[in-house]
Formats: sequence, structure tokens, C-alpha cells
Amino acid sequence: MGWDKAVVRILGRSARCEGDVGSRVVLVRDGEPRFEGTFFSSWSSFVPDYDHERLGWWRRRCSTSLFAWRVPFAMSTSLNHEVDLSGAVEIAPRVWWVGSLLTNDRLQCHVYLIEQGDQSVLIDPGSALTAPEVIRKVDQVVGVRNVRWLVCSHADPDIIGALPALEAHGLHPEARIVTHWRDQALIVHCGTQLPFWRIERHQWRLALGDRTLRFVFTPYLHFAGAFVTFDEATGTLFSSDLFGGFDAERTLYAETERYFDAIRSYHEHYMPSREILAHAVRQLRSLPLERIAPQHGQVIPRPLIASIMDRLETLECGVYLLSRDEPGLAFLLEANRTIHDVVDTLVREQHFAAVAAFLADLAVRNLDALYLEIWSGEGDLMLVFERADGFAGHPGEPPTDVRHVIDGGAPPDGTRVIWALRSPVSERVSGAAVIGFSTPTVIDDATLAVIGQITGLVEVGLEREVMRRTAELERVAWHERAVHDSLTGLYNRASLVDVLERLFRADDVQDSPRVAVLMVDVDHFKEINDTFSHAMGDRVLQHVAAALTQSVRPTDVVFRYGGEEFLVVLTDVDLEVAASVAERMRQNVSAPCTERPTVSVSVGLVLRQKDESPDLVMARADAALYRAKAAGRDRVIVDEPSPMKTGE
Ligand SMILES: [Fe+2]
Ligand SMILES: [Fe+2]
Repeated sequence: MGWDKAVVRILGRSARCEGDVGSRVVLVRDGEPRFEGTFFSSWSSFVPDYDHERLGWWRRRCSTSLFAWRVPFAMSTSLNHEVDLSGAVEIAPRVWWVGSLLTNDRLQCHVYLIEQGDQSVLIDPGSALTAPEVIRKVDQVVGVRNVRWLVCSHADPDIIGALPALEAHGLHPEARIVTHWRDQALIVHCGTQLPFWRIERHQWRLALGDRTLRFVFTPYLHFAGAFVTFDEATGTLFSSDLFGGFDAERTLYAETERYFDAIRSYHEHYMPSREILAHAVRQLRSLPLERIAPQHGQVIPRPLIASIMDRLETLECGVYLLSRDEPGLAFLLEANRTIHDVVDTLVREQHFAAVAAFLADLAVRNLDALYLEIWSGEGDLMLVFERADGFAGHPGEPPTDVRHVIDGGAPPDGTRVIWALRSPVSERVSGAAVIGFSTPTVIDDATLAVIGQITGLVEVGLEREVMRRTAELERVAWHERAVHDSLTGLYNRASLVDVLERLFRADDVQDSPRVAVLMVDVDHFKEINDTFSHAMGDRVLQHVAAALTQSVRPTDVVFRYGGEEFLVVLTDVDLEVAASVAERMRQNVSAPCTERPTVSVSVGLVLRQKDESPDLVMARADAALYRAKAAGRDRVIVDEPSPMKTGE
């Protein structure tokens, strides 16, 4: 990296200057480096490495009072400036790189030492090839005899090969291998005599005085028992093979996003699949990371971490790359993704409509189908879920081919591929799925196997939907029974107040009253019961109900108020229209018929006044009805609003 002129501002306890995000900066004066730090944004605090004292000294030397002070400095933009890899390198307070770089090795193995007195920790101790150099560097810092903990993130030879040499050199007498049981099972084969300290038995934490190490499980990346180590004190993630790269360069720090190319080539070959990798990256995002120190490649400073994680999360690796050459594997991966999506949709979506729509899209996209329809139900009631009604499901009569499969017959050949669906509870066939094609189609065995797996999931979703729908139908039936009179089918008195309040609320926003209420009573009804029978009485009531209903529009509402009394609400009428409707009702009721005695009704009619309550309106209608009865029955009496009520 070159040297540039930079404008630096010293502000309080930090210096400011312009540079690239992530650049490592060394400020130099008179040829001497004065302090170092990293840019966190293109024009922001240049934060020196944990040495405010030295910055304070520098600031006092340079300026005593100016708020912002310009001075040309020589600046190195290289993080790797003056890093001497022949000795241990402190990458964070009391965190040392103690690796050994081999010539012509694309997979340089880094080893890190956490300096913690006689509780010091060696992270991924290294290979048999690098052991002598690692031992020399550890001895420079704290001494191998003070290494109490040897974290082995997995069981590869580049991690555990150095163990015998370290033991021979003389570790802490209480030294332990820190690892997961899946790793332990293989680590013993390197011949180590060291005891194990298992992370899963210790809440995935190792407390070490003023710092705690947290372990995060990253299974199958790239080893079944792989994990990473996070040092809370410095924000350093020792990521082992994750974030590693093929890199023959002998540089310790990644300086630009170009390092991702090295990561990509390594992860493409060593990590099993995109899903497993993405899952681990998502877990690690929640850690307050200052730097990532991988076992291979380069140390990633904080400014580069987010973008590298973004790209790693979507990297096609492992099986995805193999699938480019193998159609069978490509299909399995696609099927796996499909099943994953179906499960996800089933979990997320409450309604089967969304699940069915998703499956239909899938069939169209992946199988080149024209449509998907699903039949399901109980006994005679079959529901069909199809695109036409947005897969909401509506009752239908299954066509012959579908009925044939539901009845246990073999699926027919042709343009419709049909297979049976079973209830997950009773295991009885409870429906069928149909995929329609433009030409006769035979689905191959591999696809059928996938359909079989998806079918199991669909059956669960369908069962849930049928139960939901049945409960809904029962609820509606109960509701209907509750609000309707069983003899006449009219609304009953229980629903009256609700309906009146709703209609009156709408009426209150009109300029003038538009709702009329008619109280209707069958004349001399008791005599019919006494003279004929109660059955004849019921028939008369049914006739009156029908005559009243015929006399009004569908938007008007007729109630059976009780016994032989009815109440009719007319909407959007004036008094004149209401009176003529009432007269029509009276005439329709009294139409003669041979099957029953002829009857008449008396009607009390009111036009509701603004803000009148249901109770008041009904009281007025009742009074008008009383007057109609008193005046000789078989007539309509209109309760004219008094001047007091209308004269506001
Ligand atoms: Fe490995
Ligand atoms: Fe490795």
C-alpha cells in the first residue's frame, strides 16, 4: 500500500482524517510512527488503538487550543503496515496471532493466543508442520507452560496436529482440550493424552477472570462438531474455517472487500450447502463483532464484516456447485427447497387458500402444469379448492375421475394426474389432488417421490382447513337458529334490537327520517286456535309471514315479534310510501284461500323521528296498533308525529 498525504483534524481524544472505510492508518511524523487506528467511515473518527494517552500527548504537542487543526501528515493506508510476522502480533488487547506462514501454502493456518496469565488460551493450535514456530511465538508472549486451554474448533489435522508437540514441550499441568463431543471422538486419534473440557457441558461458555469466551455451534461447517469462539472482551470472533480464504499472500489483515474472492473459493469447496452456511451467518450477526480472526486467510476488521456476511449468506457452495453437473442432484436440491417452502408456508399461513395457491404456482412453474385443484371433504359434502375462487374452497361434485380415485380406484392415465389424499388422523382417503397438463403426462418416479412428501404436508394443512370450515359452518348454523323463528323463518325477537339499532344509526345520518316501523297483529287469532286447531293456527301464522314478506322489498326486514304479532321495518321510505306498503300488506294477508280460514290484520304505523330510540318507536307503533284494534280491526292507523316532535 502506498503513502498518501492526508488532512488530519485532532478533535478531543480522537483524530479525524479522510480515508477509505476499513483503512488501517498509521500517523507518522519525522519518519516515526506515532499512533495507529482504523477508519470507520469515510470522514469520521479515526480511532487510535486503545492508546488515548499517546493521542493526548500528540494533541498537546501539536495544538493546545484549536478546535480543528489542519496539518499534513504522511499516512499509510495499509492495515499490514509494519506488521512483523516473524514474531507474535497483537491483533487486539492481549490477543495475539502466533501462526506460522509456510511457503507456497494456499491455506495458511493461523493460530491465536489469548494472553490470560496462567489461564492463557490457544485457539486452534495448528498442524504438526507449524508447531515449532507456534511454540516459539507463544513462548515469546506468555510461555507454553501457561497455556491452560486449547480450543479445538473441530478435528482437522491443521488444528490438532500440533497437540502432541505442545504436550511434549510442556503445557500448563491442568491443560484441557476445549471442544464438542463430536470433535472429541476424533481428536483422541491424534494421540493426545490431554483431558477434555466439553463446551456443551458448560453452557457454551468459558469464564476467564476479566473475559468470557462464548462458543457458538456451527455444525457441518465444515465438520459435524464445528463451533466458533467469541471473545467478549475484545469483540474478536475466532471463526476457525468459517470466513477463511485461500490466500497465499503473507499478509495478516484483509483491507478491502476483495478478500471475499479468497473466502468464496474456499467456502465453495469446503462448506456443505448454502442453507447451512446462511444459518450460521445469521446466528453470528447478533454478536458485537470488532474483528473476525479465521484459521485461514486474513483477519477481517469490523468495517468489512457486514458486507462480507451479506455476500456469504447467499453464496452457492458445496452441493449447489456439484449440482451444476448432475441433474439428479439439482432436482433433489430443488425438491428440498420446495419442501422447505411448503413447510414454511404451512407454518406461516393460517388459511389453506394461501397454501393451495402456493402449491398451484409450484406445479405450474416446476412441472409445467396448467392447474392444480384439490378436493376434500366429509361424506357427501366435498369442497373443491381451485384458482377460480382464489382457493377459498366451495362445495362441489367431484368429476368421475376424481371420485374414482377417492373411492380407491387406480389413477387414470391422461392429461390429469390424480392422487388420493388421506386424513392424517384416520388415514382414510378424504380427498384428491389433481394436476392438469396440456398433453398426456407421466410423472417420473423422482418427481412422484417429491409429490408424495409434499402430499403428506398438504394433508395436514387440508385437515386443519376442513376442521376450520366445519366449525365455521356449525357456527353459522347455530347463529341462524339463534336469530330465526323456526315456524315462519322470519327473524325472531332476540335479533330485533340489534337490527333496529343498526338501521336507526344509518337513518340518523339522513337529512330527514326514512325508516318506518309497522306493528302488525292478526285479528281474532285466539278464535282460530280454539275453532280449528293449533296446527291450523301455525299454518295461518306461516301465511301471514309469507304475505308480509311478499309485500316488502328485500332490504326491508320482517320479524315475528311474538305469538301472532309481527314487526316490519321499512327503510328509505316516507310516510306516504310506508302507508301504501302497510295497506298492501293488509290486503295480501286477507286474500281468501280454501286451505285455511281467511284472516285480517291490524297495523300500527310510525315514521321514525330523528334520534328516536328503538323503545320509543315501538311504543308509538304499539299505540297506533291499539287504536287500529279499537277502531274495529282490519285497518292501518298511522301515528302522525306530534308538532312537538317535528317542530325542532
Ligand atoms: Fe477444517
Ligand atoms: Fe482449517
